Amino acid sequence: MKAIVCTKYGPPEVLELKEVEKPIPNDNEVLIKIHAASATVSDSIVRSGKVNFLLWLPLRIFVGFKRPRKSILGLELAGEVEQIGKNVRRFKIGDIVFAFTGKRFGAYAEYTCLPEDGVSMPGDCILALKPSNLTFEEAAASPTRGTLALHFLKNGNVQNGQKVLIYGASGGVGTFAVQIAKHFGARVTGVCSTSNLELVKSLGADEVIDYTKEDPSKSTEHYDLIFDAVGKRKSSKFKSQCKKALTPNGKYISVDDGTPKIGTELLLLLKELIETGKIKPVIGKSFPLDQIVEAHKHVDTGHKKGNLTITIN
Ligand SMILES: NC(=O)c1ccc[n+]([C@@H]2O[C@H](COP(=O)([O-])OP(=O)(O)OC[C@H]3O[C@@H](n4cnc5c(N)ncnc54)[C@H](OP(=O)(O)O)[C@@H]3O)[C@@H](O)[C@H]2O)c1
Repeated sequence: MKAIVCTKYGPPEVLELKEVEKPIPNDNEVLIKIHAASATVSDSIVRSGKVNFLLWLPLRIFVGFKRPRKSILGLELAGEVEQIGKNVRRFKIGDIVFAFTGKRFGAYAEYTCLPEDGVSMPGDCILALKPSNLTFEEAAASPTRGTLALHFLKNGNVQNGQKVLIYGASGGVGTFAVQIAKHFGARVTGVCSTSNLELVKSLGADEVIDYTKEDPSKSTEHYDLIFDAVGKRKSSKFKSQCKKALTPNGKYISVDDGTPKIGTELLLLLKELIETGKIKPVIGKSFPLDQIVEAHKHVDTGHKKGNLTITIN
């Protein structure tokens, strides 16, 4: 089968298209024919091996010290179950699924094997039936960004009628977060750059702020919840000011507040919100598998619109 192989940490060019052996499922595993995967900031971090000094050791323990332990990267996929191990109960041949592959990686390939059972540790894979109203690309773009947005907004106790500010509203996590906060009945302000203002409005944001133009320290607005969906790696004038924009009991939460243990339950909640039309993944760009280098270069700009998908079969 065709796969993208990564044998060392480095720039996007370390990703190489190769012919490798098709995997065979163990007794508790399903073999998935992958139709689409995604390229995210997390994939880029794993590929480059570059993180700040505090995260260096945890990342290397998770991914590998000298080189990626799993040479086929890729954390999210959507595809079809082609074969099952003899102990598999939750899935059958022909099921259409989407998954977070976790520390097994392996989504940048025509096939991969995943265990059917749920999560016990952060980084374990999660697998569920694909939302029926999504394309394979849309489904592949959802498991991590969608569940991260759900997890953090639920943790922030987002409530009906609250004023919520989503910082980084046009990115992978942010585009889900705007829609989820609206679903919970919040009045949402989305922060992004000029070219993404219309996109963020179209997702339901009541107000938008262009961080390249507006100085929030001059704003009189205060928020019950600020969700920083950009993460700690980037800062801006707005970010340094935004804690001042909280109401007296307001909360600031960051998408980088720990690595949550995201389980099947949260993925199923996401699936339900998608199937009932409450939220829809945003796909900014899509690349075929053999253009994975270009795909990762785009992710590395730090300005992708929504999600970026990789079409495989
Ligand atoms: N806790 C966890 O386990 C976990 C797991 C995965 C990821 N993360 C974090 O989640 C973050 C977001 O991931 P993602 O996939 O959503 O990223 P993304 O799609 O690349 O989105 C980045 C967003 O940041 C905005 N942005 C870029 N530079 C900015 C700046 N200087 N000021 C303000 N906004 C800026 C972009 O908007 P414009 O293009 O409009 O500027 C875009 O909306 C990652 O960076 C990572 O830190 C955490």
